[in-house]
Amino acid sequence: MYGTMDAMGLVASPANASAADIARFGYKLPPRPGKFLEGRGNKSVIVIGAGIAGLTAAYELAQAGYKVTVLEARQRTGGRNWTARQGTTETDLDGVTQRAGFTHGEYMNMGPARLAQHMITVDYCRELGVPLEVFTNQNADGYYFNENVGALSSKPVRHRTAKADYYGYISELLAKALDQGALDQTVTADDKARIIAFLRNFGAIGTQAQGYAYTGGSRRGYDETPGIGPGTVSSPPPSLTDLFQSALGNNFSFEFGWDQAMLMFQPVGGMDQIVKGFERALLRLWPRVSLTLNAPLQEIKNTPDGVEVVVSRSGVPRSYSADYCVCTVPPQILKSIPSNFSPETMAALAYPSIAATGKLGLQYGRRWWEEDENIMGGITNTNMDLGTIWYPSSGFLGRRGVVVGYYNFGAAATAYGDLSPADRLSRAIEQGKKIHGENYGQNIEASFSVAWQKTRYSEGGWVNWPSRTNGQYETLLKGDGQVYFAGDHLSYYTSWQSGAIEAARYAIKSLHTRVLAP
Ligand code: ALA
Repeated sequence: MYGTMDAMGLVASPANASAADIARFGYKLPPRPGKFLEGRGNKSVIVIGAGIAGLTAAYELAQAGYKVTVLEARQRTGGRNWTARQGTTETDLDGVTQRAGFTHGEYMNMGPARLAQHMITVDYCRELGVPLEVFTNQNADGYYFNENVGALSSKPVRHRTAKADYYGYISELLAKALDQGALDQTVTADDKARIIAFLRNFGAIGTQAQGYAYTGGSRRGYDETPGIGPGTVSSPPPSLTDLFQSALGNNFSFEFGWDQAMLMFQPVGGMDQIVKGFERALLRLWPRVSLTLNAPLQEIKNTPDGVEVVVSRSGVPRSYSADYCVCTVPPQILKSIPSNFSPETMAALAYPSIAATGKLGLQYGRRWWEEDENIMGGITNTNMDLGTIWYPSSGFLGRRGVVVGYYNFGAAATAYGDLSPADRLSRAIEQGKKIHGENYGQNIEASFSVAWQKTRYSEGGWVNWPSRTNGQYETLLKGDGQVYFAGDHLSYYTSWQSGAIEAARYAIKSLHTRVLAP
């Protein structure tokens, strides 16, 4: 009876739920936490790595009855979920040590710094008691700044201004084309009228009698804002040629992205509050789960009936054994750790490429971006190798705040990462001044930077898969013997905590299914 009802979609099974989700919400909702692993498993599991994947695996496995030993290389949990605060100290792979001099209460998320509302990370925040606040991923008053690309490169342009101009000119062109019959083969007369009505609204363009001309308007912003008087609109707009030469509009699609569209969120008080939430949960599960820090992996082996893992404890090898292992070490590091993995696993570990990324936190003693430029959070995009500047999404109107002085990827991140921390700071200031003037270099109270490709135990921001469909990705998803692999690299959400969580859940589900098999 139950099976029949299930097949008819009358039972709330996960399969039916996803079909219902798609029908109702337009996409399948991610799996939710809470009673994730059904049934009890009484085996032992070593979890290597206490980043988000490892913490998720440990939390869910311990709840399901497993005896879990978490071994973490660093002296802290969280992995790339790392919030720099007063006194945070790190020595990179070049041996360069930085210490964050941030004021107590100020912080900077050095790794992940935003969550999309549909991500499973949000559900873990709910479950772990981690409060969220809005993260301002787009702000109409943030800037676009592309240097050396024509007439608009001499000063930054507000997002709202660039959008008004691009939408206006594109609307004008399309309305004219429609009006002149250029698309008569493609659209009906009714559609033509409706599209022109839409374009007049979307682009704030003139009437037919005015040639649908885009001439600017208040959406661009004001030179003198309205109040008792009407204000003075910033007009006229740049010419169409100057606008398109600027390439500013190439930034617009960022906010259309599935993973980047507003609203976005951040944990109140720093991204590491998610890590603290997991730690609280694991403490409640003690002694079913234990956590050992300062235990970098030295060797990992499948044995006839389990796994053997060797870590270094103050330079002395220490061996652990268990029935299974969930290994969250990034592939670019794991590929060089002694193991008896199959040749297929070794090839798959070597397959993805490493993404370089870097960030600099700048603590200012005055919130000049708010006071002088009316920017309350959000991001400025540039074509400089500084990449982006982020203004804090919390602490508004306060005395001080931490700006992300640069956040960049690829060659730009490599270039910045190859500089000393002091040179990174001066390069960021030199570039940031082109947008914000002298403010960018004044009232700096502290700074702290990371080059993830040079960070011990990460050696990269994330990985890129040249292909996920040629067998390599599948090889790692399957695991090797009693070892299962997890991490954001084993998801389509590389570079997101949600990917780490979903990959961990996939790994432990596979493990658990095997344990429960008759
Ligand atoms: N997920 C990373 C970000 O949002 C790449 O910047």
